[in-house]
Amino acid sequence: MFVILILFLDSCLSNEKSYIDIESCDSNRCRLPYCYCSNQTIPNGLTIRNTPQFIAITINGPTDEKTYNLLKEIFFSNKYYNPDGCPISGTIFLKSHIETNYCLLRKILQYGNIELSITSNSSECPTVDCRIKEKNDKSPYVPWRSYRFYNETIDYRRTIAKLIGIHSSSIVGYRSPNYEINNNQLHWHILREHKFLYDSTLITQEWDVPYYQQQQPSPLTWPHTMDFAANYDCSQGCYKQSFPGLWTIPIHMYQDLKGNNCTTIGSSHCRISRTKDKFFQYLKYNFNRHLHSNHAPFIMAFDNYWLNEPYSLWRIEGLKLFIEHILRYHFNDVYFVRIIDIINWMKQPVGLEQMKENYLSNIEIKSICNKQINIDNDQECFNEKQIESSKSNMITNNRSLLILFNTISEPLFRSNIVFYSTISCCSFIILTFLYDRFFIS
Ligand SMILES: *[C@@H]1O[C@H](CO)[C@@H](O)[C@H](O)[C@H]1NC(C)=O
Ligand SMILES: *[C@@H]1O[C@H](CO)[C@@H](O)[C@H](O)[C@H]1NC(C)=O
Ligand SMILES: *[C@@H]1O[C@H](CO)[C@@H](O)[C@H](O)[C@H]1NC(C)=O
Ligand SMILES: *[C@@H]1O[C@H](CO)[C@@H](O)[C@H](O)[C@H]1NC(C)=O
Ligand SMILES: *[C@@H]1O[C@H](CO)[C@@H](O)[C@H](O)[C@H]1NC(C)=O
Repeated sequence: MFVILILFLDSCLSNEKSYIDIESCDSNRCRLPYCYCSNQTIPNGLTIRNTPQFIAITINGPTDEKTYNLLKEIFFSNKYYNPDGCPISGTIFLKSHIETNYCLLRKILQYGNIELSITSNSSECPTVDCRIKEKNDKSPYVPWRSYRFYNETIDYRRTIAKLIGIHSSSIVGYRSPNYEINNNQLHWHILREHKFLYDSTLITQEWDVPYYQQQQPSPLTWPHTMDFAANYDCSQGCYKQSFPGLWTIPIHMYQDLKGNNCTTIGSSHCRISRTKDKFFQYLKYNFNRHLHSNHAPFIMAFDNYWLNEPYSLWRIEGLKLFIEHILRYHFNDVYFVRIIDIINWMKQPVGLEQMKENYLSNIEIKSICNKQINIDNDQECFNEKQIESSKSNMITNNRSLLILFNTISEPLFRSNIVFYSTISCCSFIILTFLYDRFFIS
């Protein structure tokens, strides 16, 4: 009797949890600010001329000294400003707990023009073995199952938030390690369950003919929510279930000057001559496709180890040439922004004139506009790196009890143990009561 009751209730509960299969988009049921179909239309009926062209510089990896110096040159240099007079901004997708210097990370975040999002705690990958192994390391690779995914994302987010003193719900963005997508769509389930706002993992392949042969480049996909099916071919595999309200920021595949397709900027399929001018040409060429079609946001996804590779200064120099070129020739319509700014804009799209009126600093999750950035004393982080990392270890240790408790309680709730115990307890009391009432006499 009990068992049946419990099984019944449990099936109700799990039915409620399962996600409906995906439908193609119905624009009557999909309205901003909550929902946007995956399509090539500019939101709110804005004309191309009146639509800002967003560029999101995103950097994947740990924040070590090299990354810090790179960010300092680009974002904290007081040299590069958007048309609204605020310093250009960008997003980091943090990865690898061990290699991150949290003292530097705190410095990076205090100026308000860098958004912190996450990738993973370890530097391993969810579906393939991407470890850099010692020669005699024969440890087998195990694809991530759900527990590992929670550990690498949700536990990680909580750890970072504690170490830098923010609330973990203020980290809202995610990109999967190595842009991998798990068959069971695990990471999207986790993101939605834990109220992330966006994922930036999907890569869309939207080159038809090499760009230089086109008169007018075809329109490109805008960011969209995952309520309804995507209307493009996702090269890594698409979502097959609905994740209402979760935004996805598609990364458009790049093409080199000879027409080879490459998934990301640094992918080896693209052949770029190793000079800053050629790299600049390559970036400009890919950017123009956005500018000359429908102004869909241009996502630049860099791996920081790739940018910082030895003897590759031409990459950073080329990137700087690109930024300087844009700011010089497009001082009116192009903005370097954080990904969160793109989503906020999508929710309430406005034209170029309104953009200039401090728009980005007035919307929901504010971007702070520090017109002049004064670099804080950052030497303490370099000098005391040793001390700092041991200090953060200490903090972790001191808090480990707390973390342990949090992570244990979650699986308990997930496995419904609390639920079963409550039901059993109540039933027991009721039965005792009935027995007492009717059978004793
Ligand atoms: C694109 O999506 C938006 C919002 O969901 C909708 O209003 C618009 O009609 C769609 N455009 C096309 C061409 O389907
Ligand atoms: C997450 O996994 C790592 C590596 O297996 C382990 O060291 C760590 O303790 C785990 N963290 C939690 C909170 O379970
Ligand atoms: C992250 O990785 C480090 C080192 O591998 C490990 O000590 C730590 O427990 C991990 N943290 C979480 C939240 O999994
Ligand atoms: C690049 O991708 C497009 C679209 O899928 C395809 O038509 C084209 O042939 C590809 N180019 C090369 C050089 O493979
Ligand atoms: C742990 O926290 C307590 C109280 O906050 C503090 O007195 C102690 O020094 C901390 N231990 C370490 C190893 O940081």
